[in-house]
Amino acid sequence: MTSPNLIVVASEAARAAGREIVELLQHKRDVRSKGWRDLVTDGDLASQDILVGIIRDRFPDHAILSEELPPPTAPATITWVLDPIDGTSNYARGFPTFAVSVGVVDGDGLLCGAVYDPLLDHLFTAERGGGARLNGEPLSVSTVVATADAIVGLDFARAPEARAELMRRVSQYAPHIHTFRTIGSAALGLCYVAKGWLEAYFHATLAPWDSAAGVLVVREAGGIVTDLDGAPWAYGHPRCLASNGLVHDALIQMGRAGSAA
Ligand code: IPD
Ligand code: CA
Ligand code: CA
Repeated sequence: MTSPNLIVVASEAARAAGREIVELLQHKRDVRSKGWRDLVTDGDLASQDILVGIIRDRFPDHAILSEELPPPTAPATITWVLDPIDGTSNYARGFPTFAVSVGVVDGDGLLCGAVYDPLLDHLFTAERGGGARLNGEPLSVSTVVATADAIVGLDFARAPEARAELMRRVSQYAPHIHTFRTIGSAALGLCYVAKGWLEAYFHATLAPWDSAAGVLVVREAGGIVTDLDGAPWAYGHPRCLASNGLVHDALIQMGRAGSAA
């Protein structure tokens, strides 16, 4: 188990930032493009200010990697990995699915994480070796074994090649599974696997802040996470297949069969 302080502060920060972005939604958002298919709003910046303020106050020696900030330059034993709003394209238009994601990593990888959906008041948390929780209640992945019953989540990459690869995998999986869901927040998609609402979730271009907290929630809920071809996944890897473990090999095989065709 890790120090309780980390997960307590991660949860407190995610909740505080989440409350602020919901409050801001009552007024028209200031939305800017920061790249192709890539938006930032005043809500992202307000959330980030709250997260960084709380973390710096409690842990001044820790590093912070946050989507809307320059990367840290000084080495640190512990790094906070922040996505102030995961699901900005949704948030910018009021589509009610987005989250604040707070991960913590050390030299051994993912240490703890909190993903907060402020509209549903869902706080997903996990500590390495300490299990995963939703609003304090332990959670575990689904027991679905048959791929015919599996609901598989994904979200779309911005880059055309990565988007084409995801589409190829959709066509590989489609004949064999129950259906797909796209969410608009990778962090929530991962947590939905942890909670058993999805059997699997995949993506090809995740940034560290998209996945750090959510992957730990999946693992600690009893799921597994690899790259899209079944190779080990490590912190920061963009290609990710997370599942309940029971449908994992079958999805990998479907992807291989399609690749050979
Ligand atoms: C995005 C979301 C989306 C995923 C994108 C991410 P953002 O994060 O997680 O679901 O498809 O690849 O960049 O930009 O809303 O923080
Ligand atoms: Ca994100
Ligand atoms: Ca973001």
